[in-house]
Amino acid sequence: MSGPALPAGLRKLAPAERKALWERLYFDGTEAAAAGNAGSEALELSDLLVESAVGALTLPLGIAQGFLIDGRRYDLPLAVEEPSVIAAAGYAARIVAEGGGFVTEADEPLMESYVYLEGVSAEGEARLASEGAEARIRAALGAIQGSLERRGGGYRGRRVYRLPETGLVALELSVDVRDAMGANILNTAAETVKSQAEELSGGKALMCILSNASPRRLARARFELPLAALAPFARGFSADEAARRVVLAWRLADEDPARAVTHNKGIMNGVASLAQATLNDTRAVEAAAHAWAARSGRLRSLSRYEIADGSLRGAIELPLALGAVGGSVDLHPAGKAALRLLGDPDSRRLARIAAALGLAQNFAAVLALVTGGIQKGHMRLHAARLAYKAGARGDDARRAADIVAAGGAYTLAAAEAAVASLRAGAGS
Ligand code: MEV
Repeated sequence: MSGPALPAGLRKLAPAERKALWERLYFDGTEAAAAGNAGSEALELSDLLVESAVGALTLPLGIAQGFLIDGRRYDLPLAVEEPSVIAAAGYAARIVAEGGGFVTEADEPLMESYVYLEGVSAEGEARLASEGAEARIRAALGAIQGSLERRGGGYRGRRVYRLPETGLVALELSVDVRDAMGANILNTAAETVKSQAEELSGGKALMCILSNASPRRLARARFELPLAALAPFARGFSADEAARRVVLAWRLADEDPARAVTHNKGIMNGVASLAQATLNDTRAVEAAAHAWAARSGRLRSLSRYEIADGSLRGAIELPLALGAVGGSVDLHPAGKAALRLLGDPDSRRLARIAAALGLAQNFAAVLALVTGGIQKGHMRLHAARLAYKAGARGDDARRAADIVAAGGAYTLAAAEAAVASLRAGAGS
């Protein structure tokens, strides 16, 4: 079912007109518009960030508390629509804190950008790979990367290679992007050296673009949890057995790509929510993580678990190109507030926090899955959504959700009946 058509020249309308039109045509009354679309200040920002803005989606923002990362307490801002994500992150964080928390590290923020050239002869390829070419590229990039170099970043070297299928020659530039996510720096770098690359190689550039793969911008997190500390969370299993099942669940994800997709999706539940809350590029982070997980030619788990010395050990490694400055990150007040809550981290610290969060999210999911399943907890949260859909608000939504959960039938009809019974009770 499609809604009413929007005018073709939508982008030419004033932002407030676009917003009013959008809300009039597509929201079910002013209450729905107020819940679903942010106000005029947010619209102004949206208009700056995207074309044809009609509003700002009010994605839930919550705080996962109780993280102990490298000896420091953190509350993590997460923006996500899925009910269980923040609850699960906080739950795992509290369990892991019992064992001393997460230990993390992150590589230097090195990323790659490419000029892809066609029609390059073997001699042209050799000229592009020569020391003389290196000096010219370095000089050209030095001229535009002064402020990046003053902050400790800048050009770090290049690689030239030919792709066998297309015959294209790639000029790969490595750049330390410091606290930025890096897209602008990297794309500018490739475009800056394009004419030199064409001249040196005798070829013609097909495109200049960064790679989001970021295989050298990795972050890692690990934890060690004494089995005795796991025992209270093993839901009827012994701690040894729960830990054994967690390890087997990791081996399953590492073996069966069908399971790895979902296992890694659970990790990204946390990572992408933190990226979203800090106004980072969630798609870049997702694309890089999944490509990294498949780097062996088979999709594998981003995390791993083992039992050693009476403890369950968890670890994760993944590329995390998160910016702490630039883009929308330090422009958007919501991004700035999220970063302030995190203690205004640099990009490497942010990546370390995200790695710990991804591991926490994974541990919560896997532990729940192997000790009785996730649906019971999920359905309780689902009941609250059904109650909202049935028209309950505030305390009534919670009460109606309790009635639905107690009845065990998670349907809209059950929620409507619960709301009706509450209203009847209030009226009597
Ligand atoms: C749900 O969003 C995430 C999980 O499916 C992750 C997993 O299966 O590991 C619970």
